[in-house]
Formats: sequence, structure tokens, C-alpha cells
Amino acid sequence: MAKLGVNIDHVATIRQARRTIEPDPVWAAVIAELAGADGITVHLREDRRHIQDRDVRVLKETVQVKLNFEMAAEDSIADIAIELRPGQATLVPEKREEVTTEGGLDVIGNRDRVRRCVERLQDAGIEVSLFIDPDERQIDASKDLGVSAVELHTGGYADAASEAAQLRELFALTSAGAHARKLDLLLHMGHGLTYRNVVPIARVPEVSELNIGHSIVARAVMVGFERAIREMKALIG
Ligand code: PXP
Repeated sequence: MAKLGVNIDHVATIRQARRTIEPDPVWAAVIAELAGADGITVHLREDRRHIQDRDVRVLKETVQVKLNFEMAAEDSIADIAIELRPGQATLVPEKREEVTTEGGLDVIGNRDRVRRCVERLQDAGIEVSLFIDPDERQIDASKDLGVSAVELHTGGYADAASEAAQLRELFALTSAGAHARKLDLLLHMGHGLTYRNVVPIARVPEVSELNIGHSIVARAVMVGFERAIREMKALIG
């Protein structure tokens, strides 16, 4: 069974909407762990739009399961990772203007920059995963850099416009996954996974980690809304 890494970025997104102290992603990480999460994932973006430096520091002290630190292959963020030493760093592409991570990391086009970052992280004892599209050439280039895992981008599958297109994307993920496993890379997947579309992805042979964020936080708002309102009504009453 694949492990579940719960991405708590969007708990911080709600907090940052008011620049206040709640909801605290550290609390969310504790609850996620109590509920059975196998890992906690956060993305410290260069623009700090959701997760803040303080969050990562406190999470490093409190998270008992694997802390997966998503990051751009940039020196300033690598410095923070090396200081904190999370269990795993996942290198992702990052553009300031994007709404979320769009497309996988181009390991071939950025080989030297990615290699330098991977080496620095590995020298600090951090396992490195690369977030890439389901493309054999990107998988081969990742293997060349000596990383232990690749996370295949499931956004194309999640956003497919028809059932046929979604099946094609699932096939691409399955065959790219088999290629990664043949090269002895751990197989992770994530992005855009929801309660409706996760099952076929969880069944991909040998997928060992799924990272899921937005859909879990979105559902938490809905399943928790009624209780939150009843509690406020009770106080007012
Ligand atoms: N995996 C990676 C590498 C990501 O960048 C993200 C988004 O931060 C996710 C998984 C989670 O995606 P989502 O929030 O759509 O579940």
C-alpha cells in the first residue's frame, strides 16, 4: 500500500489570508499524524505565500513521521533545508506567477543547477526526490543524478478533459512508473489527486508514496464546517 504524505500548505494559505496565527499548520500536522498520515509535506516557496520559515522549523521539531520538504533548486532554500535536515527534500520547479506547481522539473534542461542542489542536499544526509513529468528521458536524467526517488506529476491525469484522456494519462504514469522502478528509483506520485480520482493511482504497481494536499484541506473545511458553526452558535447562545 502506498504511503500518504499529507501536504498542509493550504492550511497555511488560510492563515496567511489574514496574516494571523490560525489555522496553524503545526496543529494540522499533529492531527494528520494522529489520523494515520505517513508523512507531512510542506513547500517553502520563495515568495512565502503559505508556509513560513517558522512553520518548517517547528515542524522539524514536532513531526514524528517523515517530513518531506518541497523546494525549488535554489541556493537560498537549499541553505534552509541543509540547516533543518528534513527526512526528504523534493525538488520542484517554481515560478512566482504560477497558482500552483505547473509541470514537472526539467531535469535535462537544468541538469547542472539540479545536480549542484542534489549534491548539497545529499551531502547533508537528506534523501532527494525529483518531481518530474511521466517522461522516460526525465527519469533517466534523474537516475543519472543519483537521487533515491522520483515523484511523477499526476496533474495531467487529474485535469484530463475526458475519460479516454484520463486513461491515456494513467497509462503514461504506469509505464513511466515501471521504468523508474526498473532503474531502482522509489516511485512517488502527486498533484491534483482527489477523493474521486485517487484509487487508480493508488493501484499503480509499486507506487510507494502519494502526496496529497488541496483536496484534503478542501474536504476538511466542508466536513468540519457544520461543527464549527454549531460551536459558535452555542457560544453566542
Ligand atoms: N506533490 C508536489 C511535488 C507538489 O508540488 C504538490 C503541490 O504543492 C503536491 C504533491 C500536492 O498537490 P495537491 O495540493 O494538488 O494535492
